[in-house]
Amino acid sequence: MQPFIQFEAVSKSFGAHTVIDSLDLTIQQGEFLSLLGPSGSGKTTILMMLAGFERPTRGTITLEGTRIDQLPPHRREMGVVFQNYALFPHMTVAENVAFPLEMKKLPRAEIATKVERALDMVRLGQLKNRRPSQLSGGQQQRVALTRALVFEPRVILMDEPLGALDKQLREHMQLEIRELHKRLGLTIVFVTHDQSEALTMSDRIAVFNGGRIEQIDSPFVIYDTPRTRFVAQFIGETNLIEADVVNVQGGRATIALSDDLVAQVDAAPELAKGQKAWFSLRPERMRLGADPAGDNALTMTIADCIYHGDHMRVQLAQGQFTFTARCERLAGDWKVGAPVVVSFDPRDCTVLAP
Ligand SMILES: Nc1ncnc2c1ncn2[C@@H]1O[C@H](COP(=O)(O)OP(=O)(O)OP(=O)(O)O)[C@@H](O)[C@H]1O
Ligand SMILES: [Mg+2]
Repeated sequence: MQPFIQFEAVSKSFGAHTVIDSLDLTIQQGEFLSLLGPSGSGKTTILMMLAGFERPTRGTITLEGTRIDQLPPHRREMGVVFQNYALFPHMTVAENVAFPLEMKKLPRAEIATKVERALDMVRLGQLKNRRPSQLSGGQQQRVALTRALVFEPRVILMDEPLGALDKQLREHMQLEIRELHKRLGLTIVFVTHDQSEALTMSDRIAVFNGGRIEQIDSPFVIYDTPRTRFVAQFIGETNLIEADVVNVQGGRATIALSDDLVAQVDAAPELAKGQKAWFSLRPERMRLGADPAGDNALTMTIADCIYHGDHMRVQLAQGQFTFTARCERLAGDWKVGAPVVVSFDPRDCTVLAP
């Protein structure tokens, strides 16, 4: 299959500062791809190069095999929604949405039909004569989204479009964008630094660190099988410690977390006896109490229990390190200072060679 969008060896420097370093990235048609990474990792720069507001210093960007990296923004047919991509305050909702169509000089009647249809699609038909100041933040964001959709772009680029909204509205808009993506078969490149947003919305997530992709995979693989220490730590919460590989045999490894804590794990092929490795275990994969059928039963001390409403967070200490476990709140009668057996499945932890 021919890739829809392809970055090949794309670099971007501002003066002597290299922001994107030889990026190769393929985006399929109809895909929802999230770019996730810490502040300054180059996410916006990539969108800007795709939209045409920045040019790569080196490398090429193609759309269905045709180079686009030298084209001006209006010739790329991409809709953009930015966090603070303000609506025109003096125009009504309908006028705002009509604006890109007027720029394209479409006939008046056609503009009216398209605007009507687009506003109904996002359920804003009732509000079409209001001005932005008379709308809630979520409604304004929906108008911005409609304005990006109305000219039927081939790709929608969104840079933290929900960053300014409160949690409830944000979650509502996430569902709405997901739904539009499915219904219209849109190709969406979505920048966020909210990892739960990326996990819930994307077909694939590209995790960026310092202008490079650390891993690009489905949310499921990114969360369950992080390939680097950075990804393990950046996505979700994890207990991460440096451990010694004591033995490797038949796909299983024995790992010493400390002098008296030894765990059995599924071994990655590159793991070798005598090595140091990063051991990562998600809080929700730990069980408090012995698991008779389990391979791992570590005795630790309860250092703290924190109530979170729908779950408890239990801090577990052992020598110089602490783990956090996430548990059902009524699953036991735990006392701070008491010893507890912690069990987990060897398949539920990740061990990464350094
Ligand atoms: N026009 C510019 N001139 C100089 N440096 C720039 C320019 N635009 C971006 N940078 C630098 O490039 C790097 C990446 O910036 P970018 O905006 O792509 O990051 P980001 O991943 O979007 O971060 P954030 O999550 O904070 O939005 C930063 O170090 C930034 O300072
Ligand atoms: Mg940015």
